[in-house]
Amino acid sequence: MSDDPLMPSEVRQKVLTQHREIEKMLAELEVGARQLREGEEEEDRVKRAAYALRGILELHMTFEETHMVPAISEADGFGPERARHLHAEHAEQRAHLDRLLHAILDAKSPAEIEKGIADLAEMLRKDIEEEEKHYVNEKLLRDSLMPTDTFGG
Ligand SMILES: [Fe+2]
Ligand SMILES: [Fe+2]
Repeated sequence: MSDDPLMPSEVRQKVLTQHREIEKMLAELEVGARQLREGEEEEDRVKRAAYALRGILELHMTFEETHMVPAISEADGFGPERARHLHAEHAEQRAHLDRLLHAILDAKSPAEIEKGIADLAEMLRKDIEEEEKHYVNEKLLRDSLMPTDTFGG
């Protein structure tokens, strides 16, 4: 991933595309967990897919910190506060994701793995929805030179 500055609209598009990819991987992981319970998938493969998704999420959060934080920092007068907030949220999410991943990797039965993956899916879908509501939108990430809504909106 390059660190070249991107236009705010490009940042928005790329983050949204990554969110849709993450949702697809999550759905595949849920299918894997169900197949494991039905005896049609191997425990190791499902655990490895969960581990790989954690890696993808790390890259995704780093991308957001590299490209989205600077863009939302300049969006309006609340930028610096918003950037601090996103960093704090990411720190919490990393800790939460690590706990969930370990629960999956340490799980002793297909049912436990499926429960762990359901918990992971619930957390991620909620975080993505919240993030798109608060940060990844046209109000904050657009290419206009004139910041607006500093005093309202
Ligand atoms: Fe994020
Ligand atoms: Fe995100």
